[in-house]
Amino acid sequence: MAVSAYDLTGRTAFVTGAAGGIGRASAILLARAGATVHCADLDMSGLDETARNIKEAGGTAHLHHVDVTDRHRLRRAVASCERLDVMAAIAGIMHSSPVLETRDDDLDRVLNVNFKGVLYACQEAARLMLARDSRGSIVTMASGAVDTGGPGLLCYGASKAAVVQLTKTLATEVGRHGIRVNAVAPGWIRTPMTDRHDTEAQAHTESLMARMSPLGRVGEPEDIAHAVLYLASDASAFTTGQILRPNGGVTMPW
Ligand SMILES: NC(=O)c1ccc[n+]([C@@H]2O[C@H](COP(=O)([O-])OP(=O)(O)OC[C@H]3O[C@@H](n4cnc5c(N)ncnc54)[C@H](O)[C@@H]3O)[C@@H](O)[C@H]2O)c1
Repeated sequence: MAVSAYDLTGRTAFVTGAAGGIGRASAILLARAGATVHCADLDMSGLDETARNIKEAGGTAHLHHVDVTDRHRLRRAVASCERLDVMAAIAGIMHSSPVLETRDDDLDRVLNVNFKGVLYACQEAARLMLARDSRGSIVTMASGAVDTGGPGLLCYGASKAAVVQLTKTLATEVGRHGIRVNAVAPGWIRTPMTDRHDTEAQAHTESLMARMSPLGRVGEPEDIAHAVLYLASDASAFTTGQILRPNGGVTMPW
């Protein structure tokens, strides 16, 4: 990296959801910026692939086979970091059902992973940073769903709205200790989560999403990884409690 404010040399980052999609792209970019990256996910073979990518890029990765809803496993994984400068809490799941057909167990599952999983990651990271008296940056993953809502998005949107609330609240509580907390709220990004497993349906969705953007294209995981790197690094030293929206401009009335 040519611009030093983005340089993470000597720093350590912990990335949840690092086995694929946005989490993998973020882990790789943070490693390319110089960070030692701890990658956590349920999907061990996906983690192996991420580690290979990081090694090929000249970086260092440590892998943790962890379910983010298991607070104790997550705590052990985070505590194993010699130092912690960046937490990127990216792991998440999608669920779609109309409000009137939403079952308690769907709501519980989505809130557990998307909200509690992020809460645990934030708590463990902030506690470790405070205990070691170190500055740090926590990046959470929200979604454009928090701005728009949409059919079927009750569970997912509620979980991401809770992430926004967590982000803003924690930012006010730990800012004086030099810990920044920000969220990324991506638009539609081409990842395994948005894969419709049908070429025609996928092309239809992508062309619809691309038409909604003034940029005329859909997002790629690397677009979001760059937002994560910005918030993780000193380039965003005066930014906290904010929601960054890399969404191709789809929310503009154009
Ligand atoms: N793709 C999009 O369009 C989009 C848009 C807005 C927000 N997001 C958010 O970005 C994040 C990453 O999404 P993605 O599109 O890369 O999806 P993805 O499905 O490609 O990646 C999600 C990762 O999280 C992991 N994961 C899921 N549950 C877990 C658990 N309990 N413990 C540990 N790991 C777990 C999965 O194994 C996977 O590797 C999610 O929080 C998602 O809600 C995605």
